[in-house]
Amino acid sequence: MKKVTWGVLSTAKIGREKVIPALQKGHWSQVGAIASRSLDAAQKVATDLGIPKAYGSYEELLADPEIEAIYNPLPNDQHVAWTLAAARAGKHVLCEKPFSMNAQEAEQLREVAGQVHIMEAFMVRFHPQWQRARELVRSGALGELRTVQAFFSYFNRQSDNIRNRADVGGGALYDIGCYAIVAGRFLFEAEPLRVITLIDRDPEFQTDRTTSALLDFGGGRRLDFTVSTQSVPFQRVQAIGTKQRLELVIPFNAPLGGTTDLLLDNGSQIGGVSAVRETLPACDMYTLQGDAFSQAVRGEIPLPYGLDDAICNMRIIDALFKSDQSGQWEQV
Ligand SMILES: NC(=O)c1ccc[n+]([C@@H]2O[C@H](COP(=O)([O-])OP(=O)(O)OC[C@H]3O[C@@H](n4cnc5c(N)ncnc54)[C@H](OP(=O)(O)O)[C@@H]3O)[C@@H](O)[C@H]2O)c1
Repeated sequence: MKKVTWGVLSTAKIGREKVIPALQKGHWSQVGAIASRSLDAAQKVATDLGIPKAYGSYEELLADPEIEAIYNPLPNDQHVAWTLAAARAGKHVLCEKPFSMNAQEAEQLREVAGQVHIMEAFMVRFHPQWQRARELVRSGALGELRTVQAFFSYFNRQSDNIRNRADVGGGALYDIGCYAIVAGRFLFEAEPLRVITLIDRDPEFQTDRTTSALLDFGGGRRLDFTVSTQSVPFQRVQAIGTKQRLELVIPFNAPLGGTTDLLLDNGSQIGGVSAVRETLPACDMYTLQGDAFSQAVRGEIPLPYGLDDAICNMRIIDALFKSDQSGQWEQV
């Protein structure tokens, strides 16, 4: 089967460092072109990464008939506009997270639904450790899953970083809270009914720098998480059932090409002493994500996650920001 030819919208760091090399390693994917607002920048990345074509505008990339799929890692406030433009040009789109600034904006993509594939790039869902975690939940190994807890933080106060710019969709909830939400939705295989949040904002940037939330999935099930752009780097997901506790040691930034560990603890000894370690084989989750998308483009598999999934995640983010305003529980 012919590989899907991808075009990359911008010289974003995540593309240069992770997603482009990962696509280039794929069985089903190849990168045919990159575009930047600056032709020099596009040419430099094209030369460095061995990409055949470079364009000095995003429009030129979308007009290239050889490009079948677009990877969109633009600043968050531009995700929808360029995903829509790419889809109107007949391209399938893998769009970075968060998919949009809010659910209403994401709804604009309904115009092209069914014509091309559109997926939000939560690469973690393709990682074998997430797949295994869900398998354990489904098998009943944890007993009844009652709580998912997630923590994700790093420290970054660079004023020019898009994460610290409120005008382009910065802040912890958009940048990393979206992953915590996906962890809960993925493990419960359900959507939350209502949410409440506590947000601390950076006084200078006005972005949310530490955000905690409680999401009620009904039936006694809840996700609680804290994410922060100004705390010591740390990440962890725990799924706590009536019989066992499952821990994903590096849930979000699993080492590319490295193994990952899951810990399963029946609590027979306190302090995690009774935890049993399961090591999962090395992989690159960005390659797995890109190949899954490419296979869907070729009709080999159904698209794993589509527009509805992306809109669901944005509805939750909307409800959390609303709860910050109201100080109360908000329906999703
Ligand atoms: N899935 C993941 O693991 C992961 C990891 C990190 C980030 N992300 C997501 O990927 C996206 C990009 O993140 P990043 O850290 O790679 O960002 P970045 O390095 O700042 O790249 C953003 C790119 O967007 C282009 N751009 C267009 N208009 C811009 C504007 N007004 N201001 C700044 N840049 C503009 C620039 O490319 P040109 O100058 O070439 O046009 C820039 O290089 C975000 O949505 C982020 O949430 C995902």
